[in-house]
Amino acid sequence: MYLSAVQCLPATSWCIWSVPREGNGVSLENETGNHCPRTEPPSACESRRILGRLRIYSMASGYLLVIESDVAISASKLDGRKGINRTMTLSYNFSGKTVLVTGAAQGIGLAVAHFFDRAGARVCVLDYDQGALEKLEDGNWERKFIPVVCNVANSQSVTDAFRAIASSGSSPDIVINNAGVLRDGVVWKMSDENWSTVLDVHVTGTFNCTREAIPHMRNQGWGRIINTTSYTGLHGNVGQANYAAAKAGIIGFTRSTAKELARFGITVNAISPNAMTAMVESIPERRRRELELMAPMGRFGSPEEVGPAVGFLASDEAAYITGVVLPIDGGLSI
Ligand SMILES: NC(=O)c1ccc[n+]([C@@H]2O[C@H](COP(=O)([O-])OP(=O)(O)OC[C@H]3O[C@@H](n4cnc5c(N)ncnc54)[C@H](O)[C@@H]3O)[C@@H](O)[C@H]2O)c1
Repeated sequence: MYLSAVQCLPATSWCIWSVPREGNGVSLENETGNHCPRTEPPSACESRRILGRLRIYSMASGYLLVIESDVAISASKLDGRKGINRTMTLSYNFSGKTVLVTGAAQGIGLAVAHFFDRAGARVCVLDYDQGALEKLEDGNWERKFIPVVCNVANSQSVTDAFRAIASSGSSPDIVINNAGVLRDGVVWKMSDENWSTVLDVHVTGTFNCTREAIPHMRNQGWGRIINTTSYTGLHGNVGQANYAAAKAGIIGFTRSTAKELARFGITVNAISPNAMTAMVESIPERRRRELELMAPMGRFGSPEEVGPAVGFLASDEAAYITGVVLPIDGGLSI
């Protein structure tokens, strides 16, 4: 398995989108293997050499969501990390929406910010690492993004950030609470600082940004808040009592705020990713390898595989989904 793609297409019956092995062509077949001429294959894939096939599932909303594949695209976009593909086909349209992604100077946050940028949104890229944000200026953005230097753990810093965003145009319609840190250590050796830093960034940071986002979302009767939890928040992990407590806290926060905000047209969901980033690279090699093998897909995801799933939760199609934790983890949690 190399690529998990998510894409909305016009509705047809349940389909397998099959591609000839070693071939360049793409054809679409329905369940019984008959050619299904009503749907064109996504153009972004047409031009590339594809091995394997994509699976496309029918959604109640009348869209098709491509949620898994055993497709390897052998093109220049391969990032060298065990062939994980960094390309996604996009069909979401978030033009007119302002999206705030926290902890977006690198890793999952940056990939999610790029996803929304390519999907037409005005993207606010928030991080406390000013140097990393400045380096992003050279990045490959479709439109001008808004860099926001802010420490999510500090409520005044978050208030100032939301004011600055509002004064630059419009307030966030979609907030992705993603900023995170690790301060690992067994609990009997854990310092006060390592305990509170992790709780402050993950839990208080998520609270600070959510609280600031609500007035605008309530006023317009529409909003999307997507928080970031972890497999560790549900199952615990040796050396990560602080992180596990924080991520479990985020699940409780997500469910409570989902209940509080549903009547205002605001959904609150969480994702539980498993993606190769600097954070994962900081985990000792042996534990990292164990985690990799625990996922039925036998690999970490790429940060780019997270964006489209976040996009789905942020879309109008997900209007009736709130308070859930969506694993994007290659089956790690099953
Ligand atoms: N990578 C994974 O497999 C994985 C698994 C489960 C959960 N997560 C969660 O996903 C999120 C992103 O993780 P990642 O792997 O991309 O990590 P990462 O370390 O690559 O990126 C985290 C980003 O958050 C920023 N940040 C940290 N503290 C901040 C603060 N106080 N204010 C503002 N920005 C701050 C960092 O500067 C960095 O840019 C985190 O919440 C993490 O816990 C990741």
